[in-house]
Amino acid sequence: MFLKFKSIAIGILEILYILNTCNSHEHNFIKNSWEKLPGIVNSQASSFINNSGNFIHSVGQNAFKISITDVINKSKCVIPSNANNIVRAALIQQCVSPSLGYGNETRCFDELGCFPMEYPWTSVLRPLPQPMKPEEVGTKIFLYTSKHKEQYNVTLWPNISIEGSDFDADRNYTVFLVHGFLNDTTDVWMANLKDAYLKKRDANFFLVDWGLGAHQMNYLQVASNTRIVGAELTRLGKFLIDQYKLDPSKIHLMGHSLGAQVSSYFAKTFPGIYRITAFDPAQPGFEGCSKEVRLDKSDAKFVDVIHTSGRPFIPLLGCGFVGPVGHVDIYVNGGMMQPKCTWPQMEINGLKDISDLATISMNVMRDWIICSHQKAIWYFLESLDDSCIIWARKINTIPIPLSNVAIGVFKPFIPPPKKCAPGECLPIGLNTDKYSVQGIFYAETMDVAPYCKLDLETNRLMGILSNLHL
Ligand SMILES: *[C@@H]1O[C@H](CO)[C@@H](O)[C@H](O)[C@H]1NC(C)=O
Ligand SMILES: *[C@@H]1O[C@H](CO)[C@@H](O)[C@H](O)[C@H]1NC(C)=O
Ligand SMILES: *[C@@H]1O[C@H](CO)[C@@H](O)[C@H](O)[C@H]1NC(C)=O
Ligand SMILES: *[C@@H]1O[C@H](CO)[C@@H](O)[C@H](O)[C@H]1NC(C)=O
Ligand SMILES: *[C@@H]1O[C@H](CO)[C@@H](O)[C@H](O)[C@H]1NC(C)=O
Ligand SMILES: *[C@@H]1O[C@H](CO)[C@@H](O)[C@H](O)[C@H]1NC(C)=O
Ligand SMILES: *[C@@H]1O[C@H](CO)[C@@H](O)[C@H](O)[C@H]1NC(C)=O
Repeated sequence: MFLKFKSIAIGILEILYILNTCNSHEHNFIKNSWEKLPGIVNSQASSFINNSGNFIHSVGQNAFKISITDVINKSKCVIPSNANNIVRAALIQQCVSPSLGYGNETRCFDELGCFPMEYPWTSVLRPLPQPMKPEEVGTKIFLYTSKHKEQYNVTLWPNISIEGSDFDADRNYTVFLVHGFLNDTTDVWMANLKDAYLKKRDANFFLVDWGLGAHQMNYLQVASNTRIVGAELTRLGKFLIDQYKLDPSKIHLMGHSLGAQVSSYFAKTFPGIYRITAFDPAQPGFEGCSKEVRLDKSDAKFVDVIHTSGRPFIPLLGCGFVGPVGHVDIYVNGGMMQPKCTWPQMEINGLKDISDLATISMNVMRDWIICSHQKAIWYFLESLDDSCIIWARKINTIPIPLSNVAIGVFKPFIPPPKKCAPGECLPIGLNTDKYSVQGIFYAETMDVAPYCKLDLETNRLMGILSNLHL
């Protein structure tokens, strides 16, 4: 119960730092707070709030900065001094939203359509602000194919064009890969995954960049922006289907975290999408919500989900879905926390409320959160290299005894080792959908890369005579 209630109202990590000591409704409550939290004023980190109240997030050569005080000042936001931490977090989320002031009105953006703010899009448990405008989200799409490995920039506005590209609707696969919170296509994992995929399959491969909309301090704003990215993809999808006769049953969507939710919005508008592969789909603001607003197995003919940080956001800072939502849900190493991903170096036994999180430094928090959350990508990426197979074995219930979670000392339930047999196991990777068995699966990896445990006996039992055959 605490999972549903608490994981929704927050989500944004950075904002939590300023919640702890703010008990004034004056704008400068923010300033007072950051001055009291030396841990976050660390210019060596890739994300930090500096002494002037600028949230700075550096990505490669790009640095994104947002002035918290400016935004709050501009918004004329007032946080009642008697609000509790959850309400305060939700209100601050709204205050720092570039879309503040639009309230709950339904805004429409040309061909992208309208974005209602009623239930199920927003609710007490889903206090998302309006999505930002399409030009603020800045969706860009790049095309690569097996033949043309250099980047082709798809023209999206005013009219879509892929003229002069190597797009071919007759290819058996058309792929869209979407990143999540605080990410963009300059991050090397997207290029690596694209290259590895194109080595194995002749495909049209689109990389979807919404870095402007994703590099926002406010997680709930970014979560709301996924609707705009989904609509941009829907518009492109419609164009490819109408003008190029692309068959939806050839479309493979892949997304990490919030990118998995974007993929879901895209897929919902076209019946018969071939597949969605979701890497640890984002939990806060989505899990437990109505199917219309989140990833679900009804979105595509086949939905496979790799769970690597499925634990309640509060108090365990999980980022990924806890429960199963696909045809196949693979809980790797228990699905809650990955090996070598450590708890923050602090006394976490006292972590009971979001306000306690304000005592963890941002560096530590980022490492803690990102580590398990991104492993879903690395496991899949490794599966594209033929040297080894990560087998997942069917189990009956998700390996997470929530009721027994003791903060800081929990251990996911590890099913006893058992041999795979045909009809009981399937591999992580491109061939997950080639096996008829569906449901909840458990997989185990090595602690560090290479993650796969070479298991020739299981390969043999599963009818794989040579590793290179898969
Ligand atoms: C904080 O960052 C802003 C934007 O980069 C910069 O203008 C300002 O000088 C910085 N303040 C301090 C105290 O470092
Ligand atoms: C907020 O705006 C007011 C007037 O525009 C200005 O005097 C004040 O310094 C600003 N506060 C902060 C914390 O920047
Ligand atoms: C929008 O907000 C106003 C004022 O907060 C409220 O009276 C109204 O019922 C809301 N409308 C919807 C559709 O939620
Ligand atoms: C394609 O987009 C990238 C990234 O936005 C940009 O750097 C590049 O100049 C663009 N190329 C062309 C040919 O427009
Ligand atoms: C975009 O398409 C519309 C309708 O097909 C056409 O009228 C318009 O001229 C096009 N605009 C541009 C800039 O090509
Ligand atoms: C698509 O798949 C079919 C069946 O596997 C194969 O015969 C065909 O050559 C493939 N088409 C392309 C363009 O690769
Ligand atoms: C982008 O995502 C990848 C995969 O989760 C992660 O390794 C990387 O650190 C992220 N980049 C930023 C700037 O957060």
